[in-house]
Amino acid sequence: MNRFLEVAIDAAREAGALLRADFNRPKKISYKDEVDIVTESDHRSEALLVARLRSCFPDHAIVAEEGSNGAAAASAKYCWHVDPLDGTTNFAHGYPCFAVSLGLLEQGQPIVAAVLNPLSEELFTAVRGQGAYLNQKRIHVSPIEKLAHSLVATGFPTRQLEESRNINYYWEFTLRSHGVRRDGSAALDLCSVACGRFDAFWEFGLKSWDSAAGMLLVTEAGGTVTDLSGRPYHPGDCDILASNGHVHAEMQQIAAQIAERISASKSSS
Ligand code: IPD
Ligand code: CA
Ligand code: CA
Repeated sequence: MNRFLEVAIDAAREAGALLRADFNRPKKISYKDEVDIVTESDHRSEALLVARLRSCFPDHAIVAEEGSNGAAAASAKYCWHVDPLDGTTNFAHGYPCFAVSLGLLEQGQPIVAAVLNPLSEELFTAVRGQGAYLNQKRIHVSPIEKLAHSLVATGFPTRQLEESRNINYYWEFTLRSHGVRRDGSAALDLCSVACGRFDAFWEFGLKSWDSAAGMLLVTEAGGTVTDLSGRPYHPGDCDILASNGHVHAEMQQIAAQIAERISASKSSS
């Protein structure tokens, strides 16, 4: 097995065991700012993951959500983007939907992905050019051709107090599809696109640790990942559209109409 993937899987499983145990205990929650929460488990999971990656790959950079870093990200050939607990709000409220997400970028390109759902024990993995897997079985995006026949997903940043423009997209895509799910873990949403449970996912304001692993899983499963205008997506870009490929153009077109409507209503007010 690819050495990078092997280490990512071992680390994700260890962090996953820690989160699984903590999930059944009273949570120690604090606020990063007025709205954005973090639990002690986010920090414990991150400390474990970063320690594993540092000891195996001392010259790799690490960008992790709660602030731990490795070698300087800008100059390193390899950089890990680590979300030690994607779905913190769910976890804190006892809603069983969260993940550990590890994505490795080589000169800006995702090459390895491991996303673990510690409760269901579903492990999603990918290596660039070698396909995407769920618990070692090859996975593929769905064959659905039209948005009207699709189940799609989105998310809203927790750290945002002001009105999100995504409400407009949520409204429109709800009317035009079988439904829009908002599960609260972007990493798992992308995995669900990769294995065909969702036909598409979009969001604004994701960070690189939310999407680095999931985007590789979607492309390796045969899907398409761009921004909402169809430009190439890089982890940390402002918006993402990930789909089975078939509904991509239709969703992009609708997104463009929504964006036009938003800017027309702003200029008339
Ligand atoms: C959040 C989740 C959520 C998404 C937010 C993310 P966190 O990550 O992925 O689904 O909508 O934008 O910030 O804070 O739980 O790691
Ligand atoms: Ca996250
Ligand atoms: Ca997180």
